[in-house]
Amino acid sequence: MADSTIYRASTTAPVNIAVVKYWGKRDPKLNLPTNSSLSVTLSQADLRTLTTASCSASYLASEGDSLLLNGEPSDVSGARTQACFRELRTRRAALEAADPSLPKLSTMPLRLVSENNFPTAAGLASSAAGFAAFVRAIANLYELPASPSELSLIARQGSGSACRSLFGGYVAWRMGSAADGSDSMADQVAEAAHWPEMRALILVVSAAKKGVSSTSGMQQTVATSGLFQERIARVVPQNMDAMEKAIKERDFAAFAEVTMRDSNSFHATCADTYPPIFYMNDVSRAAIRAVEAINAAAGRTVAAYTFDAGPNAVIYYLEQDTEAVVGTFYHVLGDMDGWKREVLSGLKPTLSLDESV
Ligand code: DP6
Repeated sequence: MADSTIYRASTTAPVNIAVVKYWGKRDPKLNLPTNSSLSVTLSQADLRTLTTASCSASYLASEGDSLLLNGEPSDVSGARTQACFRELRTRRAALEAADPSLPKLSTMPLRLVSENNFPTAAGLASSAAGFAAFVRAIANLYELPASPSELSLIARQGSGSACRSLFGGYVAWRMGSAADGSDSMADQVAEAAHWPEMRALILVVSAAKKGVSSTSGMQQTVATSGLFQERIARVVPQNMDAMEKAIKERDFAAFAEVTMRDSNSFHATCADTYPPIFYMNDVSRAAIRAVEAINAAAGRTVAAYTFDAGPNAVIYYLEQDTEAVVGTFYHVLGDMDGWKREVLSGLKPTLSLDESV
């Protein structure tokens, strides 16, 4: 009789928001970046993807592998998703070859069920948490003896920023130099507990899906922007060093300046892309002015803004400055006509850094 055992494993993965941005691929096939990047992992209590992977000899081979994302069937035929399946199966097959008593999970169809606890359309980095959870769920199912850095090598091939979501705290993705991508992976710069006062506020300026996807936007920038060459050769290496130092020394003023400068530099290369790409809108720019007003009123740097490939602002600040930052944000934004409702209704609760990953 055919074996109807269903093998199953679940995991969650958090969202991360870069403070030194990844933008540009030197090898689109292997998803290798043109520069290193560094991010902060957000609390899973607020934003996370929960994924269950299962496989069984009783699953119809004709149905192949499948993914249900927030209740909807999702396409798994893309090259990036296929690369993740392939890498994970190859590792499992090696274990099975070494120990013939293991069930042949690598030959069975995979079913993945994935849920975000935040709206996918909110313009937040759902692909990062999504691919990190996808890879770890299958790695757990396959009982692979892989470290988070090894898994980050695989998740990177799904979506670059996903490699940083395999760690909590402060995480660097080292671009590496190997042609096969074997040294392009993430490591933890510091645990969340190293600087537990760090907070992030997400200002959902628009929940609409972004106009130009990160993948295509960065390709256009690499192909057409002269400023981009300066960014990868000089600006990012400097920002990486300064950011690691700021985190090690828990120097918020330095952390904030590098965060804001790097976001500005990234968006400048988008504007220098031909034709130009604009991710920020008027509300985003008003949020920048609001951060400047908050810092000026405090007489020191208490808040830092950063923007990914969309108009939503992420504001980093320290717990002790919650009143000055969150309170003033409500006040400043509330005073401005026209977009008060839009912005205030999008204010998310203060996020703390994830402790559990
Ligand atoms: C602006 O990781 O979404 O958020 O590798 O093509 O999937 P792909 O790109 P993705 O790009 C993220 C870009 C960013 C900056 C960052 O997270 O570092």
